Amino acid sequence: MDKIRWGILSTANIGRQRVIPAIQHSNNGMVAAIASRGIKRAQAVAREMDIPRAYGSYEELLADPDIDAIYNPLPNHLHAPWSIKAAEAGKPTLCEKPFAGDAAEAQEMVDVFKSRNILLAEAFMYRFHPRTQRAKQLVDEGVVGKVKLMQASFSFLMSPDRRAGDVRMKKEMAGGALMDVGCYCVNVIRLMLGEEPERVTASAVWADSGVDMNMVGTLKFPSGALAHFGCGFDAVPDSNYEILGDEGQILVESGFVATANAEQVIHVWRGDKHEVITIPGVDHYQLMVEDFADALISGRPPRFDPQDAAENMRVLDRLYISARV
Ligand SMILES: NC(=O)c1ccc[n+]([C@@H]2O[C@H](COP(=O)([O-])OP(=O)(O)OC[C@H]3O[C@@H](n4cnc5c(N)ncnc54)[C@H](OP(=O)(O)O)[C@@H]3O)[C@@H](O)[C@H]2O)c1
Repeated sequence: MDKIRWGILSTANIGRQRVIPAIQHSNNGMVAAIASRGIKRAQAVAREMDIPRAYGSYEELLADPDIDAIYNPLPNHLHAPWSIKAAEAGKPTLCEKPFAGDAAEAQEMVDVFKSRNILLAEAFMYRFHPRTQRAKQLVDEGVVGKVKLMQASFSFLMSPDRRAGDVRMKKEMAGGALMDVGCYCVNVIRLMLGEEPERVTASAVWADSGVDMNMVGTLKFPSGALAHFGCGFDAVPDSNYEILGDEGQILVESGFVATANAEQVIHVWRGDKHEVITIPGVDHYQLMVEDFADALISGRPPRFDPQDAAENMRVLDRLYISARV
């Protein structure tokens, strides 16, 4: 097996815009089939994106013996049920973020895949960008000294006319700003600090639909490091994160998003020295799907353990509990 045959669960925007092209450009995968709730929609996208097979139901895709791996970009509340169905069909699965509706679902996913010895991973693509790896390496090498503070933000303006129909605005579909974009902030904070928060607080502004429109959160870590983040659907776009230690500071601008060919930079301050590290542009979606396919081909675990996804969801749960008090 030198090329993984991927099956795409739905015609979601993120699949069509980013992940399907990334698989098609990857060196170890191809998109073999796509499924939609309606066959016409599946056929139209298959034709448009040069995908050989189209199915009018998700069940048919999972039953296809020629599919080696599933990419699950369904709305958040369907991540767990359909990933678990994929496991029951014996299919390794790359599931979109946030991993599930809550931590209990996320843990169930991890346990089901583990008990069957089937590969599972969360599609946090930004972790595969060399910029993220370089920032983590700088922190681990002690470039900022001992980490004291970290901040992260991820926001964008969702136009009022889009709000009504958007799955992210629906509570019953596990929508909300924390679920959609704040999950990146929590993830990068846990990644950079390499520990789990012992104390978590949050405040939110709620939409009429019951989802959090904007949220801020604080996290206190056993090492003594403190972190805070802000995320939202009605603030101008921002996706920076910053790590401050007792000797220096790292700033990663637009740390969660990256245009494939655009160079990225990391700012590092130590004393009165300011260094700008330039990272060549890459498609982090492609690096993510190549890692998953390579793990499958070579029989190794994926680069990021799915248990990390369950731990991330645990923090999201705690933030919601705090914000609702
Ligand atoms: N990693 C990233 O960069 C990134 C970026 C954006 C979004 N995401 C994640 O990807 C997932 C999908 O986001 P998206 O913005 O691409 O969503 P979307 O365009 O709304 O697509 C979701 C798809 O799910 C299917 N679906 C099944 N049941 C549905 C229901 N009851 N209501 C609506 N759709 C239903 C539909 O496909 P069919 O009609 O074909 O069945 C729909 O096209 C989310 O979990 C989101 O968090 C990740």
